[in-house]
Amino acid sequence: MKIVGGPNSLNLACKIGEALGIPLIKVRTKRFPDGEFYFKFEENISGENILVVQSLCPPQDVRAMELFLILHTARDLGADTIKVFVPYLAYSRQDERFLDGECLSASMMAEIIEELGADALYTVDVHNENVLKMYKIPVYNLTASGELARYFAKKDLKNPLIIAPDDEDLAIRRAKYAADVLKTEYDALEKRRDRYTGEIVTYKKDLRVRERDAIIIDDIISTGKTVANAARILKEQGARRILVGVSHALLIGDSVKIMMENGVEEIVGTDSVINEYAKVSVAPVLARALRGEVEQA
Ligand code: R5P
Repeated sequence: MKIVGGPNSLNLACKIGEALGIPLIKVRTKRFPDGEFYFKFEENISGENILVVQSLCPPQDVRAMELFLILHTARDLGADTIKVFVPYLAYSRQDERFLDGECLSASMMAEIIEELGADALYTVDVHNENVLKMYKIPVYNLTASGELARYFAKKDLKNPLIIAPDDEDLAIRRAKYAADVLKTEYDALEKRRDRYTGEIVTYKKDLRVRERDAIIIDDIISTGKTVANAARILKEQGARRILVGVSHALLIGDSVKIMMENGVEEIVGTDSVINEYAKVSVAPVLARALRGEVEQA
């Protein structure tokens, strides 16, 4: 197998290559003056098994187009098999028509990725597992919860409590996964989001967190309001420290400020999204999956 790193995930692709002991394919990319993307394989890939690595964090449309062009070129030039690693699988929220007339973005992504020749898709902590059912090819939803927990294990934690900031099944499973790694307890808050206004309400409950370190584990931080609500409740109940581990730290607008103002001490993201909070790599998670050790929440 050989690896192709998309423009958004070159370092991640290198780390995966190092972990698996396999080379990166030389490629050339550029942007034309009008903004269009150009991609070229600098070596023959005909008959090769290749792994394409590209996260689809904002600007999602730009990143998606880069991925599509790489896949199309690989298929067109005769790659034997194409595995795709998309840590942040954008457009995973809209897996059904919640309101009449809405688009089915998740379904469209599945159709395009399959049509472009992908034989298997690996992603990390997908927002909604229903999205996976839209693919006919094998899809593996890996979790970064273990890697995030191992990061926090190096801290001087006091009786840690893992918190899922909402009580969806997947959120609870991610929190449990992290709690199991840290050999500690977990709990979940109940959250509701207004489909029209986007407003979030988190319901209070007794979390038994006094003088303990709380670690909020979530898949995505976008506006930061989900984490801020959870942090406020944890603070009110006397948590010693509030730490946050997130698979995809999109951190839109003043999300970091909102979370810090509500008591968050540290935000830890992964290299699914490249920013100053990307302190954990998802490379080992994919490397293990390709060796058959699939880590799923
Ligand atoms: C919930 O539905 C997700 O797991 C995340 O909690 C959510 O996407 C975070 O969004 P925001 O940061 O805008 O509250």
